[in-house]
Amino acid sequence: MTAFTVALVLVVAAAGLLRWRRPAWYWLTFGVTLAALRVLIRYASVMDACGLTVPPSRWRLALARIADRPAPDSRVPRILRLRPTRTGLVLRLKLRPGQDAFDVAAASDRLRHSFSMYGVTSREVRSGVVELRLTGYDVLKRVQMPAKTDPRPMRVPVALREDGSVHYRDYRAVPHALTLGATESGKSVYQRNLVAGLAPMDVALVGIDCKQGVELFPLARRFSALADNPDTAAELLDALVDHMQGVYQLIRAEQRISVAVPDADIAADIWDLPEELRPVPVVVLVDEVAELALFANKEEEKRRDRIITALVRLAQLGRAAGIYLEICGQRFGSELGKGITMLRAQLTGRTAHRVNDETSANMAFGDISPDAVLAAIQIPAELRGVAIAGDFTGGWHRIRAPHTSLRQAVNVCNKHADRTPALPVLEPFRPAVAAPSAPRVPLSKAAPVTA
Ligand SMILES: Nc1ncnc2c1ncn2[C@@H]1O[C@H](COP(=O)(O)OP(=O)(O)OP(=O)(O)O)[C@@H](O)[C@H]1O
Ligand SMILES: [Mg+2]
Repeated sequence: MTAFTVALVLVVAAAGLLRWRRPAWYWLTFGVTLAALRVLIRYASVMDACGLTVPPSRWRLALARIADRPAPDSRVPRILRLRPTRTGLVLRLKLRPGQDAFDVAAASDRLRHSFSMYGVTSREVRSGVVELRLTGYDVLKRVQMPAKTDPRPMRVPVALREDGSVHYRDYRAVPHALTLGATESGKSVYQRNLVAGLAPMDVALVGIDCKQGVELFPLARRFSALADNPDTAAELLDALVDHMQGVYQLIRAEQRISVAVPDADIAADIWDLPEELRPVPVVVLVDEVAELALFANKEEEKRRDRIITALVRLAQLGRAAGIYLEICGQRFGSELGKGITMLRAQLTGRTAHRVNDETSANMAFGDISPDAVLAAIQIPAELRGVAIAGDFTGGWHRIRAPHTSLRQAVNVCNKHADRTPALPVLEPFRPAVAAPSAPRVPLSKAAPVTA
């Protein structure tokens, strides 16, 4: 008996210690079983208390009356599936007639308390079926990306969402994106994660870092072109516009539309071209974008207009040519001058790290979702790297990228330095360190090397 008590005390102490120091391990060892039991045992009473039940149907009431039995209870949504995950539980519910997904979403905070979970989010899977994602602990406190993600071409697993799922930056679904945040909020770390995720892919990276290159130049071996000041940036962007024209000419040359060509085979962007002809996609990363839009004299004003015009052209026309923009800055609003709001309208993907005022949050989400604006302002200062990411369906998520140090990112970039393509038009902007080791890949893989 005493041995049993000692063992029990030890197990409880171990569980308590794990829960305090290593919530992820606690979840995998004890938490998941306890939480699943808690949900299953309390399910009916919690749903009732949260107002997620419907009265019994008329025929059941009539049957009870005929059989002279007590009136049946209210009915709760039926559990279709309960699936444990690395960070929580996924509960799929079939709604009863008269209920809708909004009822469940509105009750998610009450469900969170009632099931003693850390977080509850809901989404409609299909008509009448709702998925509740319950998280067992604060997954954003110490971000650990799952070992197995689902990367596809031009899709980078960049951060973790608060419901424990992976947040992808998918360049083909959302070609251009804007990342905002106050200083020290985690923008550059987010961008570094993107670079580390893109490094192993067949893609040309182009960087503009007006902080004298401190963020991107250490990663230079994986970059096909880099600019560390607005003058070089202006020339680099003009060269990219030239590259874009070249790609469009290539696509036109390949179109050759005739009656014999099926609709699906007509090339309208680089992904429709045969692989051996396809130009490498280009991701343009701009850190501290406001530096490109500020000017002190007439000369600089001309340069600024040239830069913004090139960025707007790339944002408007770049997608089909495989040119994707990833723009980071502290603020990005009309006070930066003409053309900025036009450019912002083209940047579909929005991510906002901690911001100091509502206007900055509005620059990211004002035109998309007022809830997301509020959520961005509420990010606590000590949780650097936490951000609100809008998705193209109009919804938003709290995300946090793993804390990739500059050293780790440099190692990844150096490891994949041999994948750095040398685009002929960008050759003058190629960082010196990368030149000797990288093979030269021309505009399209099949075309002869020209530079
Ligand atoms: N995802 C993260 N997880 C943990 N810590 C983070 C994360 N992102 C950022 N940090 C911390 O915040 C610090 C500042 O991050 P970062 O340099 O990315 O900020 P920033 O928004 O680019 O700032 P600035 O505008 O001054 O360039 C980092 O040194 C790091 O310690
Ligand atoms: Mg930064």
